Amino acid sequence: MELVKRPRRIRGKETLRRMVRETRMDKSSLIYPMFVVEGTGIKEEIPSMPGQYRCSVDCLSRELETVLQAGVDKVMLFGIPDHKDEAGSGAYDENGIVQKALREAKKNFPELYLITDVCMCEYTSHGHCGVLRGDYVDNDPTLELLARTALSHVQAGADMVAPSDMMDGRVAAIRQKLDERGFVEVPIMSYAVKYASSFYGPFRDAAESAPAFGDRKSYQMDYHNRKEGLKEALLDVEEGADIIMVKPAMSYLDIVREVADTVNLPVAAYSVSGEYAMVKAAASKGWIEEDKIVCEMAASVYRAGAGIYLTYFAKELAGYMDEGRIG
Ligand code: PBG
Repeated sequence: MELVKRPRRIRGKETLRRMVRETRMDKSSLIYPMFVVEGTGIKEEIPSMPGQYRCSVDCLSRELETVLQAGVDKVMLFGIPDHKDEAGSGAYDENGIVQKALREAKKNFPELYLITDVCMCEYTSHGHCGVLRGDYVDNDPTLELLARTALSHVQAGADMVAPSDMMDGRVAAIRQKLDERGFVEVPIMSYAVKYASSFYGPFRDAAESAPAFGDRKSYQMDYHNRKEGLKEALLDVEEGADIIMVKPAMSYLDIVREVADTVNLPVAAYSVSGEYAMVKAAASKGWIEEDKIVCEMAASVYRAGAGIYLTYFAKELAGYMDEGRIG
């Protein structure tokens, strides 16, 4: 046997395996999504997302402390308001839930990088991501409301805004509004390539944001499509996005790879609520090993070309990275 090429040669020892690793990651790229709710003294577990909570503003600081202690210094905030209306006015209210949370977080944890999800669906009585004309989610009038929402987040302390609504032209509208008000340095992370996905199911329980009628298919993308995703990504680059996100992550790694190869911006991937719920459910039955699965899922996202990872497992992952189990 004259085997000259033996791929196994570089797999022989753990130190060697580590040296030749092709995918590197570290915890500075992790973003932890969190839910803030109106009220006081509230920390309630989300039934379909064990280990994830909805917290009132007064309980938020304790949570943020655990996030920082885990080694994660970036969070994405979602608000759950008490009051919803047709125009989603809670989204851009200066005393809205996210705005209050931002002021509190900024005051107590200046070292924390605060990103906000900019969308209408948690704030509209009908649960759609924009204002309605009849049954139609009306694109252009929604843009002004999204821009106002982003501005109010920044004024309350957001370091970065992340529009997730999938209206056409919203990155440009937000950029223009922020620039007019002097916030030229605040970056926009666009949920540019966001598919209409059943993987968001648990999130909609958590945020009480399921649409009251119909679905989101007239604005979020059809999961059969790939070129359309590239179109969306490139449009958002032109409109001035600073980071392009693909969402969900696990079933969309082909799209992550193509977007990463196509755009000249950092690419983020969001491992969404349904991905988290599936892992938790199977692990609770003893059918999978949670920590190993979480590491493998994370590595696949970075290997696909994402440099930024949003995940409900961010705290655990930071620990695994510290221990050298991945990264
Ligand atoms: C708001 C928004 C959603 C998610 C992030 N931002 C829900 C949706 O579009 O229906 C999903 C996040 C998750 O499932 O973890 N539009």
